[in-house]
Amino acid sequence: MASTLIKNGLVIDPSQNINQTADILIVDGLISAIGSLSDSVADHTIDASGLVVSPGLVDMHVHLRDPGFTYKEDILSGCEAAAAGGVTSVAAMPNTHPTTDSPEVIKYILDKAESAKARVYPVASISHDLSGENLTDFEALKNCGAIAVSDDGKPVKNAYMMQQALEKAFKANIPVISHCEDMDIIQNGIMHEGEISKKLGVSGMHRSSEDSITAREIALAQATNTAIHIAHVSTKGSTEMIHDAKLRGIKVTAETCPHYFCLTHNELLKKDADYRMNPPLREYLDTKAVLKGIADGTFDCIVTDHAPHSPEEKSDFSKAPNGIVGLETSLAVCLTELVDKNIISLEKLIELMSVNPARILGIEGGTLKIGSKADIAIIDCNKFWTVDPKRFHSKSRNSAFKGKTLKGKVIYTLLGGEIVFQHAD
Ligand code: DOR
Ligand code: ZN
Repeated sequence: MASTLIKNGLVIDPSQNINQTADILIVDGLISAIGSLSDSVADHTIDASGLVVSPGLVDMHVHLRDPGFTYKEDILSGCEAAAAGGVTSVAAMPNTHPTTDSPEVIKYILDKAESAKARVYPVASISHDLSGENLTDFEALKNCGAIAVSDDGKPVKNAYMMQQALEKAFKANIPVISHCEDMDIIQNGIMHEGEISKKLGVSGMHRSSEDSITAREIALAQATNTAIHIAHVSTKGSTEMIHDAKLRGIKVTAETCPHYFCLTHNELLKKDADYRMNPPLREYLDTKAVLKGIADGTFDCIVTDHAPHSPEEKSDFSKAPNGIVGLETSLAVCLTELVDKNIISLEKLIELMSVNPARILGIEGGTLKIGSKADIAIIDCNKFWTVDPKRFHSKSRNSAFKGKTLKGKVIYTLLGGEIVFQHAD
């Protein structure tokens, strides 16, 4: 029997209302005891004095790019990046090549993930090839390991198709995640439509592109009485619609990302494609509304939308593909911008980044309950560090937080009791 004792950390587990200094004993990869365990002997001891011990983070929106685009990222490098960010479970989005729309691709992902430093949960596509035309076989995909369906990267263009997808997902009991952007409104827009896009003379993406699809999805969720999860919310309008829909009892959950509450379209003045993503960085009024939504419970989760692209692809401001990496900075940005600034408590942050996403996806994780897998993040909430993309474990460098000094660093990540990341200065 292999055992590890994590001693003297501030254990925060919102799933059990634990927030106290305690020891944790891990035996054979499972949490075996929590409390005052100084008499226990273990093969290995981690001194967590002055550190926070939390359930490993669950990131329900990650692009691992594998199969198909492994020059940007692969399952193993993406999971190393996850481990470095305290993330022990990731939901992998289906815009791979081939698309994650068949049992074969799901099997490929799960097989490769067996030796990875995080648990990988495949999200299957809603339509074959993300074409928006033929729905995939949700039941079969679920049976071979898909934990949700989504056409992320784009919306399901046709509302009737989305309504049918929701009905089918209800029967298969599989969560649906929606990327809300109307491509007909976006056309060839490359950033938020506003003062800065005008100044730069580039085409914009109006807020209405996001808000119109968010409104549609809420209406369809209500009509079908089926749950829908709204991905990467960036606008004031969408935040308020979700807030209102929840009050009306519609089964909607939602996520936002760190960049949507602390960066604005002003960053684009640098004409650097590392600040371009879908949906785009918006305005101060949007970041303020998103922050309010985080504080008032409109948002259930904070995710990264980790979207690696190579330096070559990102070198041209207007032609580069959209997306930024996030796994290695997400927790630190949230600690700096949300917890240190007293927008939310650390407990609430752990709920948003671990407990709630595990619940929405119906996967294990997000808890330190006795008997559960010992997936754990050990965090120094007071440590300052500066983001240097050259030091990322990800294959890609496209961070919108490069050069920023953040407060809070993951010191250890444990996956099933094994140390998969240890911080070295
Ligand atoms: O910026 C984005 N990049 N947004 C998405 O929805 C997709 C992603 C990607 O796959 O690159
Ligand atoms: Zn998306």
